[in-house]
Amino acid sequence: METYGQHHYPGRLFIVEGVDGSGKSTQIALLRQWLISEGYTVFFSEWNSSPLVKKTTSKGKKKQLLTPTTFSLIHATDFADRTEHDIIPPLKAGAIVLADRYIYTAFARDAARGVDRRWVRELYQFAVKPTMAFYFRVPLEISLSRILTGRTELKYYEAGMDLGIHSDPRESFKLFQQRIVNEYESMIDEFGLTVMDATLPIPEQQRRMRKLVRPYLKGVRRLRSPEQKRTWVDLTRETLPVEMARKGAMEQ
Ligand SMILES: Nc1ncnc2c1ncn2[C@@H]1O[C@H](COP(=O)(O)OP(=O)(O)OP(=O)(O)O)[C@@H](O)[C@H]1O
Ligand SMILES: [Mg+2]
Repeated sequence: METYGQHHYPGRLFIVEGVDGSGKSTQIALLRQWLISEGYTVFFSEWNSSPLVKKTTSKGKKKQLLTPTTFSLIHATDFADRTEHDIIPPLKAGAIVLADRYIYTAFARDAARGVDRRWVRELYQFAVKPTMAFYFRVPLEISLSRILTGRTELKYYEAGMDLGIHSDPRESFKLFQQRIVNEYESMIDEFGLTVMDATLPIPEQQRRMRKLVRPYLKGVRRLRSPEQKRTWVDLTRETLPVEMARKGAMEQ
């Protein structure tokens, strides 16, 4: 897609993608710890976490009111809000932003729900292109065993029950996940995703990830004094260094 242009902000954006249970959150949490210990300013943003859509999503899910298109639009709203508040300001301020799932999650899930691929891609045209997008590739049996072990219940939308592909939630989940895998696989070349072997042990994957990320850290500002570092370590929406972000915004 040509629409997602390279951003020219001083910060860096690293994102992780893959099916449920592929190990994304594990790896990005370890990457975050490492970057902080190296003195970088790190922000974190998670899929579907914007307070703006929380109520609507939970209401719609509870009452099973969400069609694939409304579901898609809700996620795009969430993403737009987070792009504006949580992603662009720190990038402008020269920080590192890590995102657990990004636009490719929408592209994979919405297409798996039968939404038109081109339509979804156009919906997200405003997105910032990541510096690097990691795709955690894992055989379905492994990801399923990682997440289904010990779980008694799958949620309605999580299992793709809205698609009516199977009456048993576990079977429906597997079929839905397979569709998502197919979408991810076809996006590797389309978007230049960096494929990670997600079957490897956690430390080995992390070692590879850091090696791949390191070259992109060249020129990114690091904090020196321990006092400064303390202020920056615990960065949430509330502790965002507003002055710095505003300054970045004004320079644009
Ligand atoms: N390389 C690995 N080998 C074995 N188990 C792993 C590995 N990576 C993660 N796990 C385990 O698999 C489970 C799922 O991992 P994690 O939560 O990181 O996946 P995820 O991709 O973020 O899933 P979701 O999309 O559901 O949030 C966890 O219990 C985690 O400890
Ligand atoms: Mg996760």
